Amino acid sequence: MDLDVDRVRSAFPALSDGVAYFDGPGGSQVPRVVADAMARTMCTGISNRGDVTRAEQVADEVVLQARGAVSDLLDCDAGGVVFARSMTQATYDLSRALAKEWREGDEVVVTRLDHDANIRPWLTAAENAGATVRWVGFDRITAEQTVDDVRAELSDRTRLVAVTGASNLLGTRPDVPAVVEAAHEVGAQVYVDGVHLTPHAPVSFANLGADFFACSPYKFFGPHVGVLVGKPEQLEAVHPDKLLPSADDVPERFELGTLPYEILAGVTATVDFIADLASSASERRARVVESMRVVEDHEERLFLRMLDGLSRSGKVTLHGSPKRRTPTALFSVAGHSSQEVYEHLAGHDVNAPASSFYAIEASRWIGLGDDGAVRAGVAPYTNDDDVDRLLAAVNELTR
Ligand SMILES: Cc1ncc(COP(=O)(O)O)c(C=O)c1O
Repeated sequence: MDLDVDRVRSAFPALSDGVAYFDGPGGSQVPRVVADAMARTMCTGISNRGDVTRAEQVADEVVLQARGAVSDLLDCDAGGVVFARSMTQATYDLSRALAKEWREGDEVVVTRLDHDANIRPWLTAAENAGATVRWVGFDRITAEQTVDDVRAELSDRTRLVAVTGASNLLGTRPDVPAVVEAAHEVGAQVYVDGVHLTPHAPVSFANLGADFFACSPYKFFGPHVGVLVGKPEQLEAVHPDKLLPSADDVPERFELGTLPYEILAGVTATVDFIADLASSASERRARVVESMRVVEDHEERLFLRMLDGLSRSGKVTLHGSPKRRTPTALFSVAGHSSQEVYEHLAGHDVNAPASSFYAIEASRWIGLGDDGAVRAGVAPYTNDDDVDRLLAAVNELTR
């Protein structure tokens, strides 16, 4: 099945502004059904979760439906779905809670391929616990990161390995199940940053085998919220700081304060939207997987066109060439700063910003410093016309 990109685009009010949005890796546009679900929830009688009044029941249903939706999106137990302000917040919170059990001499492994949200919280937690940090690099030319790169930093003192499902800077998709296997062999837990992977591929938390997985619905058509998943029995063993009267159940124990019900209703609508992108299967999980496979094919085709067009100009340098990757191009144009390229493209209504995008270690590692380069990411709503416009605008600079 092909993705009906015209139908997909018609679901997004924002796309009527005529801008070609290649900044999906920073945050996607939002379909009307998601915005409507949020507005509806705010205009419905709703109070705090409970089971006495109808308003309390509505709040409870909204939360349980959102956990169920994430369970279908990520193939995880709904009882292990935690909502947070953002992935960064979720990671900081969990790192502090896990580090309560770390001792001096324990080790934590982080990688230079990762967004800083999957590095800095672990560094701080390790420092506070007296644990040692071990760094995993990656190939500076191809941007590949192998399981052997990770294995080289493991020891019987490793407590946690923080890896990315996909690099938001270079698109690299490391072999996460292999990393998990290697980490588990030495008794370490694995925290996967799935923020950049989840918009581009079907994800199965169960098949990844990881202990924790985090993502951000605003990267895949949803509202601004963070999601952390773990196995409920494993979450039971973790004790974050909490208020005295707040629930000590899992997953509520990890959710500080009152949940944003309208945002959670948006999460459910987001998963339903993804499920209906390109599938008519009956179960929502099956529809998600089928739709995401169709999305992968659509994005791959446009990405290859984009790469081909960019690489035709001798003046464009494409950074990284990992074999398994998301449709995320990072490039520089000779004779122009990346900021100039970004502004030039914006002047043509082509949104493809320049930065390190918080993957600052990766950007420094490959010699792009703190400024990074221009990033163009394909989304399900990207079409051939968008790619043509990006290439034409870049060509104007390279002629
Ligand atoms: C790969 C990756 N990880 C983590 C984050 C941080 O996500 P959040 O904004 O939800 O904290 C981002 C945001 O750009 C990202 O791209």
